[in-house]
Parts: sequence; structure tokens; C-alpha cells
Amino acid sequence: MNQTLSAYLQERAALIERNLLSALEREEVPARLYESMSYSLMAGGKRLRPVLVLAVLESLGAPIERGIPYAVSLELIHTYSLIHDDLPAMDDDDLRRGKPTNHKVYGEATAILAGDALLTRAFSSIADAYLEHPEVKPENGLRLIAELGRRCGAAGMVGGQMADMEGEGRPLSLAELEYIHCHKTGDLLVAALRGAAYLADASPTLIDALTRYGMAIGLAFQIQDDILDVEGDTAQLGKTAGSDQSRQKVTYPSLIGMEASKQKLAQLVSDAKEALRAVGLGDSILVPLADYIMERSC
Ligand code: IPE
Ligand code: IPE
Ligand code: MG
Ligand code: MG
Ligand code: MG
Repeated sequence: MNQTLSAYLQERAALIERNLLSALEREEVPARLYESMSYSLMAGGKRLRPVLVLAVLESLGAPIERGIPYAVSLELIHTYSLIHDDLPAMDDDDLRRGKPTNHKVYGEATAILAGDALLTRAFSSIADAYLEHPEVKPENGLRLIAELGRRCGAAGMVGGQMADMEGEGRPLSLAELEYIHCHKTGDLLVAALRGAAYLADASPTLIDALTRYGMAIGLAFQIQDDILDVEGDTAQLGKTAGSDQSRQKVTYPSLIGMEASKQKLAQLVSDAKEALRAVGLGDSILVPLADYIMERSC
């Protein structure tokens, strides 16, 4: 990865980490529940969804501080989705972010509740932050909340996870696999981009372009996740490589082959960058971030 981008990602991830725990700390929470929530939240991770929020604000010329509460909330939601994804009833994985999965440490009941609590906290946190924010129009705050709810709900991430479960151990068409990937993973990335665009009070043309960028990198991100499940190693990934095959999941490499998967990935990244160029964002940080989606090794 290019040195400048790597330094940028580290600096942004550090900024997010400094704000993550304080999002949990304002409430009185049973000790074990708090421990379980913070265990997964502070276990590391790329913080990509928060990075995208700040990158949109920066690219549109708005102060990045405005995006921090939203960025933090997306990481709360993403972390909840990982805790639940790893449960025995779902992917049944033992390792996440280089550590034993939440249910391995705290038990299934606490892991389920920690996920529920992270999800709900995300929404109250956003409402608290933007309720009377001097720079965010109230209607943009409400748009963001509605968008996020849709994109992580039954027609979004949860729907994608449902289809993923129903697809285990049976053949899938490419259209079915694309549905799964765009929803289980793509929707939260699109929510990051569109939500940040609302915070910047962006024009419909810009919002459209960022949506196209987000849909392309969202699918690309999950294709690379599938590729890394085959080609990556457990230590570097911080999660067990080969998990998809052992769960008999259909993935891009298993359905269309490794070479075709890499070509599809490159095409999507190129489409994503084209969407940016079309609205004058061709020199923005979102361009190298699209390359990063494809080049990352964990
Ligand atoms: C993993 O997401 C789950 C998917 C949606 C593919 P990330 O690869 O962003 O995981 P972290 O946050 O870096 O641990
Ligand atoms: C997970 O997809 C998507 C969500 C958590 C919503 P995967 O099951 O492929 O993610 P990993 O490989 O376990 O991180
Ligand atoms: Mg899964
Ligand atoms: Mg999984
Ligand atoms: Mg995976």
C-alpha cells in the first residue's frame, strides 16, 4: 500500500478510536454487558466505515469533526454485525480481530445482548449528537437516521445476512450472490457515504455519485473479503481463513473462479472512480480509498 495512504488510514483510525469508548460511556450499563461491548469494539479493525464518513466530508469541503458522531455510530453497528455474524447459529467462528470471538469469551446470551446494545446505542448517539447541532440542518439529521435504519435493516444488511444463511450448502446464481453481497456488506458502506453527504448538505447530483461509488466499492469490498478467505492467512486476517469453504458458502471465487473474481473486483473499483470523476471528485481521497478496497491484505 502507498505510504501516504497508509499513514492517512492510521491517523484516521486513531482519531476514531479516541472517540469510540466515549460513545459508550455516557450511560449506566451493567458491568458485564459494558465489558462485552467494549471488548469487541476496541479489538482493532480497519475502521473503514468511519474513515469513509470523514473522507466524504473532507472531499466536500466540510469540517471532518461534524462526521465523528456518525462515524463512531457506524462502527458500533458494524461491530454488532460482526458479533452476531460469528455466533454459532450463524458463521460459528472462533476468532475475530485477532481475538477469541465475543461469544467465546462472554457466552452467547451476552454476545447477543452486546450486539443489540451496540445497534441501539448507535441510533441514540446519532440523535443526541445531531439533535441540536449548529451546522447540521434538522432535516438532514433525520434523513441520515432514516437512511441508516433502512440500510442496516431487513431490506439491507439484515436481509443480506438472512439470504447468506439461506444460501449455505446450496447452489446460488450470480444474481443471488450479488444480492447477498450488496446487502450484507454494501449497504452499510453506502449508508456511510450517503449519511456523510447529508451532513455536508450535498446536492442530489453529488449524493447520486457517492451512491454509485458506494455500491461499487461495497460489492468490491465483499469480493475481496471472499478472496482473502481463500488466499489470506489467519494471523494476518485476524479471523479464520477458509471459514467460507467450511460453512459451504457460495462466494465469488467458488462461483466464477479466482481470476474472474479479481477481474470483477478491478472493474468495480474502476467504476467507483469513474463515478467520482464525473462529479469533479477525481482528485479526492476517495480515489485511493477505492484502490485500497482491492489491494488490502486484511
Ligand atoms: C468484515 O468487515 C465483515 C464484512 C463486512 C466483510 P471488515 O473487514 O471491515 O472488518 P474489520 O472492521 O476490519 O474487523
Ligand atoms: C459478514 O460477511 C457481513 C456482516 C457482518 C454483516 P462475512 O461473514 O463474510 O464476514 P467475515 O468474513 O466473517 O468477516
Ligand atoms: Mg457471514
Ligand atoms: Mg462471517
Ligand atoms: Mg467473509
